[in-house]
Amino acid sequence: MKTIGVFDSGFGGLTVLRELLMLIPDTRYVYLGDTARLPYGSKSRETIARYAISSAKFLVDQGADLLVIACNTATALAIDDIRATLSIPVIGVVEPGTQAALTAAKATPQGIEEAHVVVLATAATTQSRAYSRSLSAAGLPSTEKACPLLVPLVEEGWLEQPAQKAVALEVLRIYLLEALEQAPNANVLLLGCTHYPLLKPLIETTLKTLHHPMQIIDSAAATAQAVAAALPWPIAPAEGTQPEHLFYATDSIEKFQRLGSSFLNQPLSQVRLVDLGG
Ligand code: DGL
Repeated sequence: MKTIGVFDSGFGGLTVLRELLMLIPDTRYVYLGDTARLPYGSKSRETIARYAISSAKFLVDQGADLLVIACNTATALAIDDIRATLSIPVIGVVEPGTQAALTAAKATPQGIEEAHVVVLATAATTQSRAYSRSLSAAGLPSTEKACPLLVPLVEEGWLEQPAQKAVALEVLRIYLLEALEQAPNANVLLLGCTHYPLLKPLIETTLKTLHHPMQIIDSAAATAQAVAAALPWPIAPAEGTQPEHLFYATDSIEKFQRLGSSFLNQPLSQVRLVDLGG
């Protein structure tokens, strides 16, 4: 059975894995959350590329026949380096995210002519301008907003308990207000970090309180479709015994299991600790 390797700096990439499991079920997945070196989004290009390449090589060593970079930061800053290093197909999330934004913009009442995309992402992703270049090539104007506090909120699971949720909502309100000050006519909100779909209900609540409706999209489903389209082997339906997926984290297995299981809606009993160095 073929293996798809999926990596992110944490468990945000599970948002992509969830879509992959639905679209391409009859495949073995090996997932790596590089939690010891998280966040990637506040690091330099060189460091992100070094971390991303070592994570990618680890998955190739585990038998990956195709690699999904389920991390916008690693895609934006290092996809070319990763492709140059590996000899297997490599799919990132920025191009699928752009396609998802295009589809959403076309579906807005104003149409693509009047569309403006706000991209929420990590500081490294926004500084790379990968999204604004890709969106502009697709004919979409955009405003990028760095949101460095969102990944820690997700990784700490500050999404449900009332006092913690109140903090997350206030952080989101500040970021969205700042973004809308720069782009008052924005009507598409692209979640340019694979951790952010976990904040979607809170983002929806915040947009309601700001009286600024927007189409919220992320790259997870579009990435799974891009993987399906690029797959060098046929997609088979899920049959018989399900393949055993493997999960690796570079720090706290317990935390990865706890948060990851509730997100994927299945027990992550197979999480293993791996040391990829600094
Ligand atoms: N999930 C990663 C992304 O999509 C970012 C997390 C981090 O900053 O490490 O950009």
